[in-house]
Amino acid sequence: LKTPRIVLGIETSCDETGVALVDEEGRVLSHALYSQVDEHQAYKGVVPENAARAHLHHLDVLVKQALDEANLSLCDVDALAATGGPGLIGGVMVGVTYAKALAFSLQKPFLAVNHLAAHVLMIRLLHPVAFPFLTLLVSGGHCQLLCVRGLEDILVLGETLDDAVGECFDKCARLLGFPYPGGPAIEKAAIGGNPQALSLPRPFARDPHIQFDFSFSGMKAAFRRAVEIRLDQGPFPPSEISDYAASLQEAIIQALLSRSRHALEWAQQTIPAINHFIIAGGVAANQALRSRFEQLTKEYGVTCLAPPPSLCTDNGVMIAWAGIEKLKKGQLDSLDFKPRPRWPLGEKIR
Ligand code: KG4
Ligand code: ZN
Repeated sequence: LKTPRIVLGIETSCDETGVALVDEEGRVLSHALYSQVDEHQAYKGVVPENAARAHLHHLDVLVKQALDEANLSLCDVDALAATGGPGLIGGVMVGVTYAKALAFSLQKPFLAVNHLAAHVLMIRLLHPVAFPFLTLLVSGGHCQLLCVRGLEDILVLGETLDDAVGECFDKCARLLGFPYPGGPAIEKAAIGGNPQALSLPRPFARDPHIQFDFSFSGMKAAFRRAVEIRLDQGPFPPSEISDYAASLQEAIIQALLSRSRHALEWAQQTIPAINHFIIAGGVAANQALRSRFEQLTKEYGVTCLAPPPSLCTDNGVMIAWAGIEKLKKGQLDSLDFKPRPRWPLGEKIR
């Protein structure tokens, strides 16, 4: 009887240091996470230098914690996976160097994982979702609509032409006085607020040539203007903050829905085999967004799935699992692999 192989996954591309042990049957043997959020609070955002140093500082302890929790030693690990990019280069270098050093000393394979692919593939640990499927990837650094045809065969249908969606949440939340990261704070504040209180732009709503792409900079600027004008009249009472948060969240969700509707229509005509729509990345933790997407996809007879919120934001489990997907395909990486601050998922549709 062959025992399932075990991969140690390391995530260090932004402000979460994540380490996890996952086996090839999809069992999460352990999951250790250190969030640097408090360390970056004073700067109201992630400071790359500080993030890299914090990853270095916490990695050893987290690896030990993950092994202890799983009751395993390093010798039981069959391969070492780390985020190879895209992300903040200092942090990525820390994780990649650490994983390579372990791989070299243990004489086990090294797997360089694309962080975005890991967000996308996360769902396959939880549900038997076969290729091809559609994905809306929404995180602090990215916003993309994808047709995932295979592990290394991803078609980019659309992407943001300026800001990422999480960035829009974070920057607007800051204007309302919320700490970083702002997405969860906006979601909470929006409950009970009037989503029609503010009218915000709907990017490309009437442009038939731009079907799948996003833009959030105009929305962000309009929101900033509205807040500034309002603040000239005195401080916000909580109910008004709630209205502003609800209006922003609604405008963002509408923008995501309209592009995704086009993608569903495209899929219906081009790849009828598609019957899953996956939402992935940190912003997918938003419950309001999730329920609206469930409604949308139902219209097309497609099942909408998203990981539980704790696996939507950055973590080591997704890196270990993407490592397993690569390992199963025999896609090992050399110890010469160089971290890739930019690492596109695939070609953009023409
Ligand atoms: O995927 P992630 O953890 O890191 C990146 O790879 O960027 O995403 C972080 C982003 C942040 O912008 C954060 O504000 C947003 O995800 N986020 C949310 C929620 N939880 C996290 N946005 C909206 N609603 C949420 N509940
Ligand atoms: Zn991420």
